[in-house]
Amino acid sequence: MRLKQWIVLSSIVGCVSSLNAQQNEMNKFVSNLMSKMTTDEKIGQLNQEAVSDGVLTGSIVQGGVDEKIKKGQVGSTFGIWGASKLRRLQEMAVNNSRLHIPLLFGLDVIHGHRTLFPIPLGISTSWDLNLIQQSAHYAAKEATADGLKWVFSPMVDIARDPRWGRVSEGSGEDPYLGSLIAKAMIKGYQGNSLADTMNVLACIKHFALYGGAEAGREYNTVDMSLIKMYEYYFPPYKAAVDAGAASVMTSFNDLNGVPSTANRWLLTDVLRKQWGFNGLVVTDYTAVSELIAHGIGKDLQEVSAKSLAAGTDMDMVSEGFLNTLGKSLKEGKITIAQIDSACKRVLEAKYKAGLFKNPYAGLDSNRYEKEILTKENRAFARKLASHSMVLLKNENQILPLQKKGTIALVGPLADSRRNMLGTWSVSGEWDKAVTVKEGIENAVDGKAKIIYAKGANISDDTLFNQKVNVFGEEISIDEKSPETLIKEAVDAANNSDVVVAVVGEAADMTGESSSRSHIDIPESQAKLLRALVATGKPVVAVLFNGRPLTLDWEKEHLTGILDAWFGGTEGGNAIADILFGDYNPSGKLTMTFPRNVGQIPIYYNHKNTGRPYVEGGPTKFKSDYLDVPNTPLYPFGYGLSYTTFAYDAPTISNTHPKGNAPVKLSVKVSNTGKYAGEETVQLYISDPVASVTRSVEDLKGFQKVYLNPGESKVVNFIIDTESLKFYNANLKYDWEPGEFTFRVGTNSEDTKAVTVHWDK
Ligand code: BGC
Repeated sequence: MRLKQWIVLSSIVGCVSSLNAQQNEMNKFVSNLMSKMTTDEKIGQLNQEAVSDGVLTGSIVQGGVDEKIKKGQVGSTFGIWGASKLRRLQEMAVNNSRLHIPLLFGLDVIHGHRTLFPIPLGISTSWDLNLIQQSAHYAAKEATADGLKWVFSPMVDIARDPRWGRVSEGSGEDPYLGSLIAKAMIKGYQGNSLADTMNVLACIKHFALYGGAEAGREYNTVDMSLIKMYEYYFPPYKAAVDAGAASVMTSFNDLNGVPSTANRWLLTDVLRKQWGFNGLVVTDYTAVSELIAHGIGKDLQEVSAKSLAAGTDMDMVSEGFLNTLGKSLKEGKITIAQIDSACKRVLEAKYKAGLFKNPYAGLDSNRYEKEILTKENRAFARKLASHSMVLLKNENQILPLQKKGTIALVGPLADSRRNMLGTWSVSGEWDKAVTVKEGIENAVDGKAKIIYAKGANISDDTLFNQKVNVFGEEISIDEKSPETLIKEAVDAANNSDVVVAVVGEAADMTGESSSRSHIDIPESQAKLLRALVATGKPVVAVLFNGRPLTLDWEKEHLTGILDAWFGGTEGGNAIADILFGDYNPSGKLTMTFPRNVGQIPIYYNHKNTGRPYVEGGPTKFKSDYLDVPNTPLYPFGYGLSYTTFAYDAPTISNTHPKGNAPVKLSVKVSNTGKYAGEETVQLYISDPVASVTRSVEDLKGFQKVYLNPGESKVVNFIIDTESLKFYNANLKYDWEPGEFTFRVGTNSEDTKAVTVHWDK
């Protein structure tokens, strides 16, 4: 063996043996501790309490927490943050409980902690894995500075139905991109060591297939074939497990007749045995007690026993484990081995988090001032927000705007601080967010005149508004009548050169429990847009939305559309950066925008069917609609730039590859416009003949390339047989020889192709 090889090999051996030593140390510590624990104390560790300090997502808030902590009946809390508050609880656990076992503090830190980034769907449209990883790292830094050690993120549920409000919390419809994002988030949260004071334990959620809810209705049934699960829905969970995620949260839905929270196949056979997950499984909020309503047990005792037996370790809020597992054990309905293995995983998570070494490591209140909402964090938030926004339309190059003349700034979201952060901003400080109006004023700095008018309420539907406003008044009804509001906006438009209309959804029109059966811009605002368009002035819409919207009319009539999602703390500045060309937009959609609700579910990686409709061909007896095209309004991967990019035909290093040797695909991409900008070059693969029906194409690679005007670069993709693999009818993951088409381009519908014949 050569010296170099020997050094590499011995350093690998060294790493493995030090990992083994750490593992042994942990095993010794945990089994020693468990040997001292009573059954009740073990069960206590399986209990997670919601301590009411902020927004909780269920109706149950638990009382008497102090007493329970002292009695060793609490393993973890969530819903409370802040180093001094958490220190008080930790002292209680460490000083007053018999075995001094520290608590693990969790929270829904979903897209930033106090400094908020764009909603996750928005983060995903950046397609920028470095920024995404950094966002998780910033979130972890702020969360740990606030005493937390566990975040309930990333949400990696694939979703193809924009009626489901929680699409805002995920990374869209694609398993390949979703997996890379999941991995980046885990790395960002957990870093290299869970014990590091800047890192947190991540939690993959919601396991599993929550995004497959029928009709996009919240908490609804999921019924899915195994191929669909393994091919399209499982990959991001699996990628996050492979990336070393410390925990997994069960989902609320049932899956093929068995709710996830009691689904042994899912939690034990797939998660632990097939994927080798050895971390902690926590249920979702009251998901154990909800098993009664699901109809798989008559009372809390029965469902708690079922959930534990399925592979759940920690019960969030139901207190079913705490109050019934002891009885079930005595009655022989569960075994002590089941309790032991759950308890062991909870203690291991605490051990890995470094809590036994120093339970107060994260509870240093001095960090707050230095590390939360800092200039640096806000600058990063602004950068990420600008990278996440998607330019959907830009007729006559209306954007970027000049910093001169008169701009009418209208719309109910133009000056709405309350709506800047978006859903799941539990610990976000919305009062510190920059509105669009402020962002624009900062940017023009007096060089252009801004005339502001609200123009409309977000919605005039009182009942709808009541449902949305549960966490505060995101939708308010103005004292002025809708007619007056519109008139003021029209006057502003008539006195301006261009109109910027900030319209769309209120923050909690998406997120949990925010399914919509119409996913359009509410009528009050649609009326406003129609009135503005009627003035004949160019109208640019800046959209706030947590899901794809149906924008058929808007696409036809507006001059420009910028999808800003919910941009977070620095959203207003980031929007201004784009509107005035200080940043050239580069975001690309990660979820298909339908033309109407009837097309849903609509997603780019669909099957061909036996009677595919071919654009422009005969329609009778073809797979299509009488009243709407098959194509979406905006396809997956779509997003414009202020510049234009041209693609040459791709070339391939070998059109008849054999075996596992990879091939190289090359494509020349040129900036043919006037602005420097970044393009996301996307690679899709089609496998037209296989033993099972395949998607018409699947994303298998992408690269970001920054080009100055007139500049060209050759982008290379190395394609190996891993990219050709799929699950066959026996769930074997492999590739089959034959023809493959590699498509490369600017979005899933606009690609150039090259075909190869690949033999085994
Ligand atoms: C949500 C989870 C969340 C949990 C704790 C539930 O309602 O489904 O995503 O982590 O509440 O807040």
